[in-house]
Amino acid sequence: LMKKHILVVPGDGIGAEVTAVGKQVLETIAQKFGHEFTYDEALIGHVAIEATGAALPAETLEKMRAADAVLFGAVGHPKYDNDPSAKVRPEQGLLQMRKELGLYANLRPIKLFDELLSSSSIKPEILQGADILFFRELTGDVYFGEKTRSEDRSTASDLMIYHKYEVERIVRKAFEAARTRRKKLMSVDKANVLESSRLWREVVQALTPEYPDVEVEHQFIDAAAMLLIKDPKRFDVVVTGNLFGDILTDEASQIAGSMGMLASASVGDSTGVYEPIHGSAHDITGKGVANPLASVLSAALLLDISFGMKAEAEAVIAAVDAVLKEGYRTRDIADADTPADKLLGTSAMGEALLAKL
Ligand code: NAD
Ligand code: IPM
Ligand code: MN
Repeated sequence: LMKKHILVVPGDGIGAEVTAVGKQVLETIAQKFGHEFTYDEALIGHVAIEATGAALPAETLEKMRAADAVLFGAVGHPKYDNDPSAKVRPEQGLLQMRKELGLYANLRPIKLFDELLSSSSIKPEILQGADILFFRELTGDVYFGEKTRSEDRSTASDLMIYHKYEVERIVRKAFEAARTRRKKLMSVDKANVLESSRLWREVVQALTPEYPDVEVEHQFIDAAAMLLIKDPKRFDVVVTGNLFGDILTDEASQIAGSMGMLASASVGDSTGVYEPIHGSAHDITGKGVANPLASVLSAALLLDISFGMKAEAEAVIAAVDAVLKEGYRTRDIADADTPADKLLGTSAMGEALLAKL
């Protein structure tokens, strides 16, 4: 029996709808396995700006530091997407949280459930057996380098910058993970053009002799983007910078069938944060159709990584597998063969999952 305190940070848009299901799953697991989980909630993003003026209120950050793990939803609002001049933005809250908590490693597993082979736009024979684990660096790169704008506003820059220690720590994590999998590591960069990528590649090359059992491959970001769709099975563990990792993993979501299926774990120096890779999805907010499985699978990563609860995490994944086997689908993973009575909204999918648990 374990006692744990979980902070739920729903954020904006569909964040609230999907984390509600993720939390229900955590609570059901606690009851089933005899653990005691306590919960609290905090604001981030647009809802936090509206309530307090800050995208990441000090109170939220304090609660995050005090928690054993954070279940995170999403941030973002169309108001800011269409107003580039807004000074305080929801996304700043997310980035500040990652920086403040030292969450330098973002693990994004691309797991294709067999039942979803036909819901991807990629041919089943290309997809079958694909299983990739991305390590996206999360607190460096062009995201956090200096930003400038000339006085007449006609010139802008974002500094793409990496320090050796930042590359080393994420690359080591990726090597360690490769050892527990198929022992293949692909490092993705743009070393033919960018100095920061040449540093990245140097660091990977310097560490390679320490992991003689891992086969290392270097790819440029443009080629990697192509290979991901051409032959996803050649990928095992991928390590890359913040920006390239952001883009490649949205692309990779199509291997798993939908953005609504992709979970992630952001870990590093402090409390781990577990978040879908998708955003606030305002096109479907409030309609009750968002796929909650990315949040549910993020909850599974939380159990596994932050709490060391392997059996509990496996029970969650098995429940997801079971509802998909039963034919239940949210709109994003449905196809022409999905019967009307198997097409579920967010909370009905949650109910189906809880029944399996
Ligand atoms: P998005 O991920 O929110 O949506 C992209 C597409 O995927 C949309 O068509 C959406 O309906 C669909 N989708 C996403 N999640 C889904 C789910 N669970 N179920 C079903 N369909 C789903 O990306 P976007 O539209 O580029 O961005 C919207 C806002 O979200 C922006 O303000 C952006 O900054 C923000 N954003 C936040 C995060 C985050 O908080 N981690 C991530 C990405 C984008
Ligand atoms: C993500 C998002 C964020 C990112 C945005 C909203 C700042 O796209 O979590 O993948 O680019 O990291
Ligand atoms: Mn993204």
